[in-house]
Amino acid sequence: MKEEFEQLKDLAQEALKSVLDRDKLEVLKIEFLGRKGKMAELMKQIVNVADEERKLIGALANEVKTGLESAFSAKEQELAGAEEAGRAEKEWLDISEPGAWSKEGHLHPVTTAIGEISDIFARLGFACVRAPEVEWDYYAFESLNMPPDHPARDDWETFFIADGAQTAQGKGEKQGKMVLTPHTSNSQNREMAKGKLPIRMININRTYRRQSDVSHTPMFHQFEGLMIDQGVTIAHLKGVLDYFARTYFGAERKTRLRPHHFRFTEPSFEIDISCGVCQGHASSDSTCRLCKAGWLELGGAGMVHPNVIRAGGLDPEKYTGFAFGWGIERTLMMREGMQVDDIRTLYRNDLRFVKQF
Ligand code: DAH
Repeated sequence: MKEEFEQLKDLAQEALKSVLDRDKLEVLKIEFLGRKGKMAELMKQIVNVADEERKLIGALANEVKTGLESAFSAKEQELAGAEEAGRAEKEWLDISEPGAWSKEGHLHPVTTAIGEISDIFARLGFACVRAPEVEWDYYAFESLNMPPDHPARDDWETFFIADGAQTAQGKGEKQGKMVLTPHTSNSQNREMAKGKLPIRMININRTYRRQSDVSHTPMFHQFEGLMIDQGVTIAHLKGVLDYFARTYFGAERKTRLRPHHFRFTEPSFEIDISCGVCQGHASSDSTCRLCKAGWLELGGAGMVHPNVIRAGGLDPEKYTGFAFGWGIERTLMMREGMQVDDIRTLYRNDLRFVKQF
């Protein structure tokens, strides 16, 4: 039996050497020192040993047992220490290292322009309103003196909403088709219908037309100004436009009104702004690289047509007003230094372009 205890001791010590983690150690400990382990099994057989040897074997067995117990607990301590050291290595962190900054973006140039334009008109007392993007034909065309089938509508290459949407008519809404509003002028009659006078409003919104080329995107932005009160004249319109030109484009810039035709204004104008490159001095189309003979085309304007005022529920004998409207993207591109020669670039989501602004 002596040998058997010696063998068991060697076996256990050999096994202990290759143990690398505490779970395995526990399994091994049960195998050797557990209640039904190898050691216990062997000890049970001591009763079979001859009387004279039993004492000796008993002493040896105890010696082996306590020897193994302390070998196991030494190993346990060793593994615990190694684990602790490993954690320190794994979780090490340099608190003096500079932090990682999250990437910071900025507003899109069109969003910035919308903010700047709203601010300029706010200083003149024009309040921001918002008319729907998905709009009744009535507000987009009919109330603007363009009855159904009027040929003038063809100038606005309009997206119509499929039939289903027409069932969404709310109480008091006008019947008819719905469109993706092709201009911001849909705000005019909506504002007049509120019946609060005088009106000084700016409506900036997305607008949609079936066009895509260097100077058109199917979705673009417009802003619409409307002022209605007693005694409003073209002089007021000119003053507001000049103020805008000076503030947005630069102190030396000015506007001119060129006769034009719109169904919803009478008289109607096209607004030009003096060119920032030649300062309005170019005498012909070829003497300035940017403009046509000193002027750049900005947008449309006019004195609100009596039929439109009437459609808005007001008396055109008593109230007069002016309106103007044009594209935000175009306005932005006309700013000196922008040098954007294709309007679609604004919406290509190319960070190399957007980051310049
Ligand atoms: N709504 C017109 C367009 O999209 C622009 C315009 C012209 C607006 C004259 C006006 C205006 O308010 O008076 O082409």
